[in-house]
Amino acid sequence: MSATQPLLQADNVSREFAVRGGGLFGRKSFLAVRDVSLTLGRAEVLGVVGESGCGKSTLGRLLLHLQAPTGGHVAFEGEVLGRMKPAKLRGLRPKMQMVYQDPYASLDPRRSVGAQITDGLQEHGMAKGAELQARAEALLAEVGLDPTHTARLPHEFSGGQRQRIAIARALATGPELVVADEPVSALDVSVQAQVVNLMAQLREERGLAMVFISHDLHVVRHLSDRVAVMYLGRVVEEGPAKEVFRTAAHPYTRALIAATPQLREPADKPLSSAQGELPNPVSPPSGCGFRTRCPFAKPLCAEALPPLRSLASNRLVACHRAEEI
Ligand SMILES: Nc1ncnc2c1ncn2[C@@H]1O[C@H](COP(=O)(O)OP(=O)(O)OP(=O)(O)O)[C@@H](O)[C@H]1O
Ligand SMILES: [Mg+2]
Repeated sequence: MSATQPLLQADNVSREFAVRGGGLFGRKSFLAVRDVSLTLGRAEVLGVVGESGCGKSTLGRLLLHLQAPTGGHVAFEGEVLGRMKPAKLRGLRPKMQMVYQDPYASLDPRRSVGAQITDGLQEHGMAKGAELQARAEALLAEVGLDPTHTARLPHEFSGGQRQRIAIARALATGPELVVADEPVSALDVSVQAQVVNLMAQLREERGLAMVFISHDLHVVRHLSDRVAVMYLGRVVEEGPAKEVFRTAAHPYTRALIAATPQLREPADKPLSSAQGELPNPVSPPSGCGFRTRCPFAKPLCAEALPPLRSLASNRLVACHRAEEI
């Protein structure tokens, strides 16, 4: 592969789900993710933010091909995941790992943490025998836990420690890409910062690329190089995290920031919040999905879907009025 090729590239990725009981004929479908295009470079961190139900987790699964897109495709190191033979995709799994929100649900309560951390190494024939034990110890130490605790069961650890174990397991096979789906939102506020700092440190030391999904704008700003803002399945704004949070161009991004007072700086553009309720994603508004809640909406916004377009260098926005507001 060439030096300029991105690690991960999503082209117009969509995912349709069936909904039961919807519509006149009792069955309808909707797009949980719509036409999302993204690129992620090596060692780059992309934050993904947006309200509950906007498609963040679905996008995360699509990016790793844990779920197949119903439209578009995702390429890892230039190769389309959906066109690979199953054996080849399996061979790529060590390079692409996921960390989930709930470390309670993602760890088996009956197996030692050491065994679970090294499952991937064993499965992919990357280590065996005594080496597995040594690797488990080194991984525990790397995530800040006592390396002599490999034989312990998950319940012997706190929530924050369990998430560290889940992170160690994701790191075991030496991934280049980690998709972390709300990795700290199930943890006590007091330990969230520690786990976020651990992820920042690991990212630095290992040169990891990450897709960091979170509804916590603070955490995303701290960890991400770039940020993508999602609304009703679409990316509505994307750009360097610092710039997007400082000079948000989409009214929805500005509403998210307005709802996070600690993020605001005196020099920032004036903000106004989103009005009303999130529309039902099964029947989104015509034109711009945000227009029903947008203080700047005009007739054009109901007529035409604003494309995700270039606003300034490295900045993308899907708003007809981005320049005026
Ligand atoms: N397997 C599925 N079948 C049907 N609908 C689904 C399925 N998975 C997700 N959805 C729907 O797709 C939409 C997007 O869900 P998703 O979990 O990706 O959102 P999210 O942004 O991760 O939300 P949250 O912040 O609550 O985690 C939601 O309306 C959800 O109900
Ligand atoms: Mg989610």
